[in-house]
Amino acid sequence: MPSEWWRDAVVYEIYIRSYADSDGDGVGDLEGIRTHLDHLVDLGVDALWVTPFYPSPMADHGYDVADYTDVEPTFGDLAAFDRLLAAAHDRGLRVIVDLVPNHTSSEHAWFKEAVADPSSAMRERYLFRDGRDGGALPPNNWTSVFGGPAWSRDEASGQWYLHLFDSGQPDLDWRNPDVHEAWRGILRFWLDRGADGFRIDVAHGLYKSALLADEETVARPGGPGSNVGRPQVWDQPEVTDVFRDWRRITDSYDGDRMMVGEVFILDVDRVKRYVGDDRLHQAFNFTVFRTPWGAAALRATIETALDAFDPPTWVLSNHDLTRHVTRYGGGDLGRRRGLAVTAALLALPGSPYLYQGEELGLEESDVPPERRTDPTWFRTGGKVPGRDGCRTPIPWTAAGPGHGFTTGHPWLPFGADAATCAVDTTPAVLTAYRSMLSVRRSLRGSLGNRVTWLDTADDVLAFEREGGLVCVLNTAAEDVDVMAAGDILLATAQGASASGGVVTVPSASTVWLRRR
Ligand code: GLC
Repeated sequence: MPSEWWRDAVVYEIYIRSYADSDGDGVGDLEGIRTHLDHLVDLGVDALWVTPFYPSPMADHGYDVADYTDVEPTFGDLAAFDRLLAAAHDRGLRVIVDLVPNHTSSEHAWFKEAVADPSSAMRERYLFRDGRDGGALPPNNWTSVFGGPAWSRDEASGQWYLHLFDSGQPDLDWRNPDVHEAWRGILRFWLDRGADGFRIDVAHGLYKSALLADEETVARPGGPGSNVGRPQVWDQPEVTDVFRDWRRITDSYDGDRMMVGEVFILDVDRVKRYVGDDRLHQAFNFTVFRTPWGAAALRATIETALDAFDPPTWVLSNHDLTRHVTRYGGGDLGRRRGLAVTAALLALPGSPYLYQGEELGLEESDVPPERRTDPTWFRTGGKVPGRDGCRTPIPWTAAGPGHGFTTGHPWLPFGADAATCAVDTTPAVLTAYRSMLSVRRSLRGSLGNRVTWLDTADDVLAFEREGGLVCVLNTAAEDVDVMAAGDILLATAQGASASGGVVTVPSASTVWLRRR
């Protein structure tokens, strides 16, 4: 296995509840993943990241963890995890486990003891505070990412506890050394079992400003309700020390274990502080998903990321974001644009993170209100539709009410495109993903990380990657001719051609050329 495999790995995110259900309860599970690994082999990815599968009351579908060293029965058991890991390794796939260190579930034994006995040491693992106005009002004005106040009252003691997400997700107090020690054990538990790496949930959130003072709510980028910015809540100076500590742990294991942080900050200069030889191996680069369709904007985003990271990660979609086909206009146009941008990202140095279903061209599903499950929907009284639409189950077959996902009743309904995008119909997008990943793999080792931009028309993004891969993305509504010599390796749309040093790139598509 190559060393530092993660630097250019293609990682596939599995949202476990919606990937494949092996036992007919309508919810995906570990055994379902194991029996559908060949899809990932055929696709050509290097690793899978599986969203949380720990025991959980599912207030946030598993991101509320009741026990960090066990498996939720709905998803299987530890033996099922071991079988999945072994089967993945047999196929040359690495497995990344999702860690949720910002908060536990309110059903976690630590929190239950903290509530049952306010004098216990467990109380100090959380952020309990007295309320204002004699205890009637929360200690400060912080709001939850999911809507509503970030504090809930513990009726027994009259104190309030902080939860940046759902009330079932009490935040841990990372200023308490016991929390650090407990987490070292959790990391070792999964590393000992053979996990290849960790995805770290809300990595920028572990520490809160010590005073827990009121926030200025007006000056946030994205408006008063936005969670972007929030200098007291996110990205405190102490947080990177946690990852220095964790890096010593992962480095003490063989096999090139890695950590990727969900650092949901859009300023890459701040994000890059989390990454390095003595910190996290990678952080998600969320700037691409915020970038609108258009060559100039995409180029600016890509250049900034290439400058900041060595090399970057690329995230176009995940289980929290509106699917990119829909963001790019939906339908055939959205699919075409999505493929074009994906091809450009796959040509760049770095590590692309794909989200299950994007390889089928799935759109955001229109989930009816009575089937919605996301806490965001409930906590905002239906004002924010939430994330159910990007989490609907994978259609494995065009036929059948359960589309090969389940023999039972799926926990979320299928999207309207389930039949046309099902895996067994081999949709055009799937064929394109397989080709892109196979060509990318064939070039591995022959390409360097240096990127040179080529002069082109405004609507065109074109670069040459060290080693002779030329990539041209045309965002115009018409075909364009670009001066570039080489043989076409791949085109995301019909009608591309190259001759006499000129390549014709159809509208909303990308062409890869190998320079002669
Ligand atoms: C992360 C997860 C998201 C979850 C939240 C709270 O942002 O990706 O799904 O709701 O953290 O754990």
